[in-house]
Amino acid sequence: MSEAVVPQAIRKLAPGKLVIASHNAGKVREIGALLAEHGIEAISAADLDLPEPEETGTTFVANAELKALQAADLSGLPALADDSGLCVEALNGDPGVYTANWAETPNGRDWTLAMTKVEQALATKGPDASRAAHFVCVLALAWPDGHVQWFEGRAEGTMIWPPRGNVGFGYDPVFVPAGGDQSYAEMDPAQKHAISHRADAFAQLIAAVL
Ligand code: IMP
Repeated sequence: MSEAVVPQAIRKLAPGKLVIASHNAGKVREIGALLAEHGIEAISAADLDLPEPEETGTTFVANAELKALQAADLSGLPALADDSGLCVEALNGDPGVYTANWAETPNGRDWTLAMTKVEQALATKGPDASRAAHFVCVLALAWPDGHVQWFEGRAEGTMIWPPRGNVGFGYDPVFVPAGGDQSYAEMDPAQKHAISHRADAFAQLIAAVL
């Protein structure tokens, strides 16, 4: 007989300080703006001189949790971390948690190279291979006592080639979200932010804990 799954109790986040476990100033500003109306004051991990942990997990949840738990433990405050990436179905979910690594070069990240690598990998699957893909964003919220809960947002879509558009970042030019015909990089940023995997994860977090 299978065991019943007991849902994890959701802990509410009280108004006050929240560490955003990221050294990316743009990300911290964006998250801070989203949470300010709920009485949350976002503080960046960089402002607190917190170290950036190595992302040793093999899942989005594991990486988001390790970043949030470390920041909560070191700061003594609740902390929020995210981990995201692109999963291509015909590539068994690659690049997945290694999405940023596919862009690494000795001189920094090269997104044209990363998009080309994904396209080349897809080409090896033949002309009839599925071009379905999804972006994932996992948000992990941790407290100094080790309590952690996470929310997974997704955006389904299709891989296109050649890349289109020049707004946004990362793999935006090769991903067309379901239901539209513009790539993420051709959309107005507000339009992308309303439908993205990150928007989905934040909507779940806000509904559950605020
Ligand atoms: P991380 O979550 O900071 O580890 O980054 C994962 C990688 O996924 C980023 O460096 C981007 O390349 C990619 N990624 C995540 N979200 C998006 C998006 O909205 N558009 C394009 N690429 C993204």
